Formats: sequence, C-alpha cells, structure tokens
Amino acid sequence: MSQHSTRPRNGEAFGAEDRDGFIHRAFLRGAGHSEATVRARPVIGICTSWSELNPCNQGLRELAARVKHGVIAAGGLPLEFPTISLAEPFVRPTTLYLRNLMAMDVEEMITASPIDGVVLLGGCDKTVPAQLMGALSAGKPAVALAAGPRATGRWAGKPLTIDDLWTLSDERRTGALDDARWSALEGCLVPGAGTCNVLGTAVTMALIAETLGMALPGTSLLPATGGARAAAAERTGRRAVELARAGQGPDAYITPASLENAFRVLCAVGGSTNAVIHLEAIAGRIGHRLGLDAMAEWSGTTPLLTDVRPSGPHLLEELEDAGGLPAVLLELAPLLRADALSGTGEPWHDVLARTVRHESPALRSASDPVLASGSLVMLRGSLAPDGAVIKRSAADPRLWRHRGRAVVFDGLADLHARVDDPGLDVDEDSVLVLRGAGPVGGPGMPEVGQLPIPAKLLRRGVTDMVRISDARMSGTASGAVVLHVAPEAAVGGPLARVVDGDPIVLDVTTGRLDLDVDAAELARREPIPGSGSASGAGSGPGAWSGSAPPARGYASLYRRHVLQSSEGCDFDFLRSAAAHPHRTDRGDPS
Ligand code: FES
Repeated sequence: MSQHSTRPRNGEAFGAEDRDGFIHRAFLRGAGHSEATVRARPVIGICTSWSELNPCNQGLRELAARVKHGVIAAGGLPLEFPTISLAEPFVRPTTLYLRNLMAMDVEEMITASPIDGVVLLGGCDKTVPAQLMGALSAGKPAVALAAGPRATGRWAGKPLTIDDLWTLSDERRTGALDDARWSALEGCLVPGAGTCNVLGTAVTMALIAETLGMALPGTSLLPATGGARAAAAERTGRRAVELARAGQGPDAYITPASLENAFRVLCAVGGSTNAVIHLEAIAGRIGHRLGLDAMAEWSGTTPLLTDVRPSGPHLLEELEDAGGLPAVLLELAPLLRADALSGTGEPWHDVLARTVRHESPALRSASDPVLASGSLVMLRGSLAPDGAVIKRSAADPRLWRHRGRAVVFDGLADLHARVDDPGLDVDEDSVLVLRGAGPVGGPGMPEVGQLPIPAKLLRRGVTDMVRISDARMSGTASGAVVLHVAPEAAVGGPLARVVDGDPIVLDVTTGRLDLDVDAAELARREPIPGSGSASGAGSGPGAWSGSAPPARGYASLYRRHVLQSSEGCDFDFLRSAAAHPHRTDRGDPS
C-alpha cells in the first residue's frame, strides 16, 4: 500500500468509514485494541523518552501506564510512542549537541502521527526542553509530566545528593577518598529512578514547564516513585483529553507573560544556568526573544527564595513539603504576571488563591529572602559583548568583585594536561579561562565550565576561584563560574584573544565582565587556535580547529545552523513565530 491521500493527520483518521479509516482501525485491532477502543476519541499520543540508555527516565514506563488510565477514563484513546532520549551521563559529545535533533524528532512525530493531542514524558536535563520546543512548533494540544526527582541517598550517615559528587571527587583527586570508599560511593550515588535530586537542570526545567502552564500545578517536585506522581500521571492523561477536545495548543500557554514568569522562577529558586539557554530557545519557537536586558532586569528585581542544594543546605523534598512550585509562586505573587495560564487552564491567580504554603527552611518569605535579588547575574562587557551568566548564589561572595590575571586553556585536552601540573603558574587570585567549548567549538557546549581548581591550590585549602568559559556547567555544580560567554571563541569572540597574564575584571554587582587590555593591543592579536574538541571525543564540527565543516549528517546540519548561546543554541531554521504547518499528505503503510 503506497497510495497517498490528503486526509488531515489527526484522530479522525481512525473514524472514517472509507478504506483509509478501515486500514487505521485494522492495524490498531491487530495490536490488540477492541472495536470500541479504536473508535474512542480523542487520540492522545504519549511521547516518551524512556530508554535503557537513560536511567533517569527509568520510571517513565510506569507513568505512561498511569497516563493511559487517565486518557481512557476521560474517553480517549492513548497511544504511546518513543523518541530519542538524551542521558547526561552517557551522551557524547554533549546532550545539548543533540537537543535540537530530539526537538525535531518530537515535532515531526507529533505532526506526522494521527493524534489529536500529546502527553510529553521526559526527565533528564535536555529531554524536557526538547519536548517543549518540539511540541510548541508542532502546535497540537500538549501537556507535560516530568520523571520527578529521585530519592535522596545516604553516605557516611548523612543525606547524599548528586551535587556531593563534586566535593567527593575533589577528595578523590587529593587522595582523601580511598579505593574502597570510592567504590562504595559508586553504589549509592544514584539510589533509584528519577532525575537528579537537587535543583539541577532537570528539576529546574520541570519547574519551568509547570510555570509555563505546560504541566499540572504542583507536579514538578513530587518524588519520582510513589503514589503521588502516579496519580499526577493519571490526571495529566485526563488533562490531555480536555486540551484535545478544546483544541487548545501550547501557544496559549507559552507566551511572553509566562516566559517572564518562568525566568523569575528560575531566579527565585536559584535554578540551573542551563535553563537560560533553554528558555531562550523555547521563546524563539514563538518568535519571541527574552534578551539579555530583560533577563537582567527580571533577575535584578527577583529575590532568591529557596535555600536548596546545590546553592543551599536543604533538600528538594523540604521544598516540596513547603508546597512546591505553587508556594514559590505565592511568595513571588507581586512580581508575577498572574493572568498567565496554569496547567489546569486557569490563570495562575486562581490557582494561587487556593494554594497552601507550609513553613519550611527550604523556602524563605519574600520579606526575608536568601538574596534580595540577582541569584543569576547576566553579565556583559568587553570579554562578553553578547553576554554571559554567573550563578551568584552558588559563588563565594568574596569573588563577586574580582580582578585577576588569566590562566588560559585551549580546550579540554589542554585543561586536563596542565591543570594539575605543579609547575602551572597559578594562584588563588588567578582567573582560569577555558575556550573552545562553546556551541560550535565544543561542539555542544560541554558542561565543563566548572574548571577544576588546580590540585596544588586544593591542597592549600582553596575552595573557589573565578573561572570563565564559553562552556556550560551542570546545574548541580557551584562556584564563581562565568558561563556561556558569547560570542564564543570558535566564532571569533574576544575569548579567542586572551593570553596568559591578561587582567580580567568581574563585577557581579554591576553585571560587568571585562578584559582590561587596550583595544589596539587586542586588535593586533590573532585569534588563538585550539584543540577543536572540548569533549575529547574527536567528533563533531571541529570548527574551532579551523577545519572544514563536516560534509554529511547531523554534524553538518548542526555546524551550519546552530546559534550562539545568547540565542538559545537552537537552529536558525527552527526559530519562527509560524508553527510547523500541519501537513495534509499522508503515507499509507506499505
Ligand atoms: Fe539525568 Fe541529572 S543526569 S537528571
């Protein structure tokens, strides 16, 4: 069967009494669905990133089953489908390198399939933004549910969360952690299903999806396993049916107002710096731009309210005990654009009117915040004309204003080769600079921006230094780390002209990042070529080394179309106010 027709690609494809409808129903009945079931409406796709190559998404099969209960109970027909899945610990060169590929996979599967709406099930860092970007461009009704944070572990009689890895690996580097304890740690660092159990990128993006109205209120922080998340999955299935019946697409939810709310939530929770990139990419899918100036203004007027790991001492479950995201929004209410829609379809002010906020040290009041403003500081200056970001709340306050001389590394291989060299000319006031690790140079901006403190300084008790790069860092990491410097070195940004010893001035109080070198001297310098692969994998565009872009495949597409971090690292051809036009051609099974 290879004939094509022009029937709209939605659930009606299953209801027609012609040959095409017969074929659709016949294939579903062959898969075990009853005659009555194949005529149920609407048809809800369940787009899942479940994969054995993504342990953080391990719980999504059970959640998909619960979503199906909800869809069926509301009279719909659920059909689960996979897309590619991106696991932070496994994917190389980086998951950001493949985020746009996953977004295209999601968009095209939603567009191409005969479904009326979709539930997005994702978890590990890039899966949530990829699903939101794809669903927004596809335009069909969509609602998300994240995998949820995994349980807190135990180590040496204390709670163990994923961010402890950074301190413990420094202990390993200095010899303080022996082989037996290192092996024991390997067995308990990740105690089960779910995403990282601190305010890292995965949880931050789940909070952002909820703020944007793309997930039901109060669902982001529910534990990955247990009845509460399972029940949320069933409610999400029911909600997908409502949305499909109403024909309400994600552009009703993701608006300039909800994007501002989402950025303020990011600042209020001291969330992952990665979310700055993802939010810009999501905004770009509706032809909107947050921009450095607006983000700086919102950051400068939003208090840091949560005191949760990795920025603070408290656990994520304590924030959930306080009331989760709705409780955070209640504290933020005066700053909130509360007419933006929540995941129930009600404006947020209606949801907040019935929100109960419980006392918890993990959530401070707006009158007694952790920081009055600026947990994330957007930087600009001669070293970052198009911007950079620092998570001030995770940096040693002593370094918020700092002048130091540069110690420059050209890519990861150079960093690894020299950072622990006892002869490295570095002290605690130096500024460590890594270049060649941006969207093009990395490729895919590896999470290496939290450069290791040189071992000889670690042994002297140095715990934080100013570090600057065109890379990203894990949402679970911390330190005085300036990230996302744009333009990156690989496309000729000022970072490419820094040499050892150059004075660099960071001032988070004024949002400045400057290279204190005479402009004429800088103009005389040639951009310094580097290793070309911060991942060390030797694959990818390799543009940093000056080699020709790859001739084929995704690497070629990526290299020709990826935008800088200041534009969300989306592909230029995917940013548009016009949603993907729904196709009317259809390929029959053949
Ligand atoms: Fe998957 Fe952190 S590594 S959520």
